[in-house]
Amino acid sequence: MENVWNKIPLEDYELHMQHKSVGQLHLLSNLTKKYLEKLCPKTVLFLGIAGGNGLEYIDNSVTNQVFGIDINQNYLNETKKRFKDQIPNLNLINIDISSSKNEKITKANLIWAALIFEYVETDTCFEFINSNISENGQLIITIQENNGVSSVSQTGIETIKSAGQIFKLISESDLLSSAKKFGFCKIDFEENILPNKKSLKTYTFIKK
Ligand SMILES: C[S@@+](CC[C@H](N)C(=O)[O-])C[C@H]1O[C@@H](n2cnc3c(N)ncnc32)[C@H](O)[C@@H]1O
Repeated sequence: MENVWNKIPLEDYELHMQHKSVGQLHLLSNLTKKYLEKLCPKTVLFLGIAGGNGLEYIDNSVTNQVFGIDINQNYLNETKKRFKDQIPNLNLINIDISSSKNEKITKANLIWAALIFEYVETDTCFEFINSNISENGQLIITIQENNGVSSVSQTGIETIKSAGQIFKLISESDLLSSAKKFGFCKIDFEENILPNKKSLKTYTFIKK
């Protein structure tokens, strides 16, 4: 069966994420800026890169390889169009993490996994991450916390509702125990509350 993400136009996804009640696009862009500046990775890999939100903060004098993977080739085409001139070493690869957990693309110093664990089985995500992270590499995972609010906000964007059918909330305790099982040690955490009272929880791990 085709993955629902292949049927959601990027424009719809981004309109939904930047809707004033959702407010996630801007926050995720700011978080990307913050952690790129803090961690200064030489090689970074974005899981589920969508339209490349936050790539505007890549400093080519610090980060010399940028990888992004996504199941939706159209998203990658648009990301390429947006950033190819700004980031010479931008590698965008069409991969379904669910069927590629052993695929080796790079050994990244930083893997950025924002809002992907909600759509791909947790152990599979960690296996894919372990195939592509360097020793002592850092891993940032952002997950959504609903705080009692329904999972997909009403923004008037119809196509995004199909993502709600495969969305699963990630429990903090399950995430932390899986991270430990796959050799990751938590070193930082922050929570940002969104306009609709949901929040994004962002964890930094280091690979031991
Ligand atoms: C909720 S969006 C998050 C996008 C971006 N990381 C952000 O924070 O705005 C999930 C992204 O993961 C991609 N995705 C979903 N399932 C995937 C899979 N099995 N393999 C690779 N990418 C996937 C979707 O196409 C989409 O771009």
